[in-house]
Amino acid sequence: MRTVVDAIIGEVYDRCRGNRDGALADYIPELAQVRPDGFALCVATTDGHVYETGDADTEFTIQSISKPLTYGLALADRGPAAVAAKIDVEPSGEPFNEISLDPVTERPRNPMINAGAITAASLIAGDDPAERFERVRRCYSTYAGRELGLDRRVYESEARTGHRNRAIGHMLRSFGIVTDDPDEAVDLYFRQCSINVTCRDLALIAATLANNGTHPRTGRRALAPEHVEQVLSVMTSCGMYDAAGEWITQVGLPAKSGVGGGVLAVLPGQIGIAVYSPRLDAHGNSARGVQACRELSRTLDLHFL
Ligand code: DON
Repeated sequence: MRTVVDAIIGEVYDRCRGNRDGALADYIPELAQVRPDGFALCVATTDGHVYETGDADTEFTIQSISKPLTYGLALADRGPAAVAAKIDVEPSGEPFNEISLDPVTERPRNPMINAGAITAASLIAGDDPAERFERVRRCYSTYAGRELGLDRRVYESEARTGHRNRAIGHMLRSFGIVTDDPDEAVDLYFRQCSINVTCRDLALIAATLANNGTHPRTGRRALAPEHVEQVLSVMTSCGMYDAAGEWITQVGLPAKSGVGGGVLAVLPGQIGIAVYSPRLDAHGNSARGVQACRELSRTLDLHFL
């Protein structure tokens, strides 16, 4: 049965459909191979209902939307104090791939920019790189409620071209933030970014965060509630990089974007929202994804302030 929510999502989808702003990411060559017009909008509730429209089954790589999930796993593995000693929680106002540390604390400014995300990857527990990646993959699968897999072509494409992230890894090693082999941390980061998801998966991942860390359908816990609060806090202040201020004033929800074209937003206690549209704006955020979230937030009055 078509509900009021289906109708609202359909209206927002139709209003945004004509938006062709932005361009595909091409600094990872494989990302430039996707269909630029792909578009999906999904909403999942904390009681497990999923509303979806458009290309909800299209797979794309999670990219930076992996960052809050790995940060949460690092919090669970090492505890908040050990993680805070390595990664700050201040908005940077910088692009996601800035080669920077806070000049006073000499830590990455937050876990949503690459420097903080590579540090979080270095904190994942496991005996060897394969076990660490498998723990990450399983963790994301618990959030999504199904087994997720690696897009090998995107991974290899980024591994071949990701010199800037390698530079960040070695900078972190030289400042003693990463203490083991920085290339292993960067490789785990490349792999986590290359996990395939659909827009429906992202909505359920967002709904799991909205549901205090428990998947609304499977009942499995992806993250402890005390860490969910920390993860949603940094998503609120830093999730959209140097557009975080504009996002929070206009949409008003904790969120994270990825250069694969996904955007995920969370209304704690209520819903998870996801949009897929791979053309990106100048900040590396999905141009139509940002518009769709803004329109949905206005229409449903989701702004939390
Ligand atoms: O670090 C990178 O280049 C990517 N694998 C992830 C970047 C990303 O998704 C930035 N977000 N919008």
